[in-house]
Amino acid sequence: MTKLLAVENAHIAYGKVEAVRGATLDVNANEIVTIVGANGAGKTTLLNAIMGILPLTGSVIFSGQQISRLEIEDRVAAGLCIVPEHRELFGTMTVEENLQLGGFRVSRAKSATEQELVYALFPRLKERRTQLAGTLSGGEQQMLAMGRALMSQPRLLMLDEPSLGLAPLIVADIFRTIGELRQAGVSVLLVEQNARAALEIADRAYVMELGEFIMSGPAIEIRGDQRVVASYLGFQRGEEGKL
Ligand SMILES: Nc1ncnc2c1ncn2[C@@H]1O[C@H](COP(=O)(O)OP(=O)(O)OP(=O)(O)O)[C@@H](O)[C@H]1O
Ligand SMILES: [Mg+2]
Repeated sequence: MTKLLAVENAHIAYGKVEAVRGATLDVNANEIVTIVGANGAGKTTLLNAIMGILPLTGSVIFSGQQISRLEIEDRVAAGLCIVPEHRELFGTMTVEENLQLGGFRVSRAKSATEQELVYALFPRLKERRTQLAGTLSGGEQQMLAMGRALMSQPRLLMLDEPSLGLAPLIVADIFRTIGELRQAGVSVLLVEQNARAALEIADRAYVMELGEFIMSGPAIEIRGDQRVVASYLGFQRGEEGKL
């Protein structure tokens, strides 16, 4: 397997407070990897530092290149992209204008092709291409945020809480699309409160507690781990008697 992202011994601090301590993680090509952890564990902090929004000490190798000192724009150019928790769309611009902004660094021809791919992935966005982003539903806004990120043709898409505040049916839709990204050659690093859904689509998982990874492995194993079940999954319907 080809390593796409390799983070080694990352330390990230807010002033004197270390929020992430010695995190080591990798994502292979065509892989969906999830980070599971409670509120305040340091998941967002780690994604932001990988993107270059926050500084870190340690090593971040992406596609064989050390990127830990690169500016955000150069990381985007290298094929890294993040959909932040708050989506950060341009509310007074249309769906299509938001997408075009996401593709501004690729050529016009490539951008047009990419836009068609995004519309194929999210038909709803095509239907609403002239609608202002600020008037979209929460689920549509999440789709647009993902679509806009895909316009930069990333090789790794980092998603921070894509299901936040969305109704279960929409969540299922978003997760199905995350699964489809793999076929489009995009790897995914996913942070999710909905640990059950995340562990279902992920190949591998890391469990983060108080700024450190305490466990990692194939998602199917993490899903069955007693501590993970007790802390993050709760009881599954119909399984109360088994545990
Ligand atoms: N801008 C900031 N300044 C100071 N401390 C911060 C800042 N952002 C986050 N922290 C702290 O860093 C720690 C990790 O926060 P982070 O947002 O990365 O957690 P998280 O795992 O993403 O949590 P959640 O599931 O709630 O999104 C927390 O203790 C938080 O209070
Ligand atoms: Mg967070």
